[in-house]
Amino acid sequence: MKKVLKWIGIIILVLVVIIVAAMFMFRSKYKSLANERFEVNVPDIALQTDSAGMARGEMLATALCTGCHGGDLAGKDFFNDKTIGVVYSANLTPGGPTAAWSTEDFVRAIRYGVRPDGSGLFIMPSLEYNHMSDYDLGCLIAYLRSLPASDNPSPPAEFTFMAQVMAGAGLFGDLYSASVLDLQDGSARERPEVGETLAYGEYVMLISGCQSCHGEAFNGAKSPDPVSPPGGNITPAGNIGNWNYDQFAETMWTGKTPEGKEMDPKFMPWDGIRLLGDTEKKALFLYLQNLPPKEDSEDLARWKAKNS
Ligand code: HEC
Ligand code: HEC
Repeated sequence: MKKVLKWIGIIILVLVVIIVAAMFMFRSKYKSLANERFEVNVPDIALQTDSAGMARGEMLATALCTGCHGGDLAGKDFFNDKTIGVVYSANLTPGGPTAAWSTEDFVRAIRYGVRPDGSGLFIMPSLEYNHMSDYDLGCLIAYLRSLPASDNPSPPAEFTFMAQVMAGAGLFGDLYSASVLDLQDGSARERPEVGETLAYGEYVMLISGCQSCHGEAFNGAKSPDPVSPPGGNITPAGNIGNWNYDQFAETMWTGKTPEGKEMDPKFMPWDGIRLLGDTEKKALFLYLQNLPPKEDSEDLARWKAKNS
């Protein structure tokens, strides 16, 4: 009996040592990701400072950036969870850390997710903005430069030890767009003509990142936010297949679906999507309605089974 207990003790001890070693290994993997420096081939982008360019820049910034960077784009703690930590998004006004940035610095950060010192921007969705056309990027940067300066501070993110371990183990997905993107691809990005067309709808979908939460096939996926419900099925096989355009627009305006579900804007960014122009929303809806219908993904089906 004593011998058996002794062996059980040894096995538990070995397991504990292995788990602790693995935790430190994943944490150091996270640290080395965080310390990586990236070299980018940054293309020349012309600023669009005329009134049409500024108006388009404002539409893009309010629809795409305010959800994380705050209504006045002066930064905020957009993620705050006891077990994971606090993530601040930067103050993007001329009073923040970008005050002295050149256009090139903005292009490097927005299209490639890299700071002027070569460090990667974390969580910032450059995978999506990598698709943004040269013209739209020129509008967006011109608009950001025109914002009233705010001196709201932009402190670095603070992660708990557990969150660093989880990040190193890849549980949050690709944290740094820069480690996934082709940073040497400085080719010009064209945009389809603005209009209620499938091509423009696909473009709007790509720069607003629906797939990062709804999955490559749009049939539901885990959100990159670890405390969020999964993104729903937005192919015609999901609820949206029964909606007309007005119901879609109303859902994006109020966050409440025709089926009566109230969506938290922290998890489903309808409060940003609603600020897209009418043509953008119509093209987006047209694009979604023309997707091949797909059954719920396994992740979504499992979540629904557990939560119904
Ligand atoms: C999903 C949330 C999210 C969205 C949406 C987002 N950002 Fe960010 N952004 C961040 C976070 C978080 C950081 C800070 C990253 C870090 O500290 O590594 C950041 C950093 C930046 C920086 C670098 C500032 C600095 O000095 O560190 C720029 C520039 C920027 N964002 C521009 C934009 C623009 C322009 C948009 C809209 C087109 C946008 N962001 C949309 C989360 C977001
Ligand atoms: C940051 C993650 C995220 C992004 C980006 C995102 N969504 Fe969502 N979306 C969600 C989540 C999470 C839900 C489910 C919310 C819930 O269950 O309360 C959802 C739900 C929805 C629903 C309701 C589905 C239903 O059947 O009730 C629609 C429609 C929708 N999203 C459309 C879009 C479109 C279109 C885009 C791109 C323009 C988009 N979403 C981008 C996370 C996201």
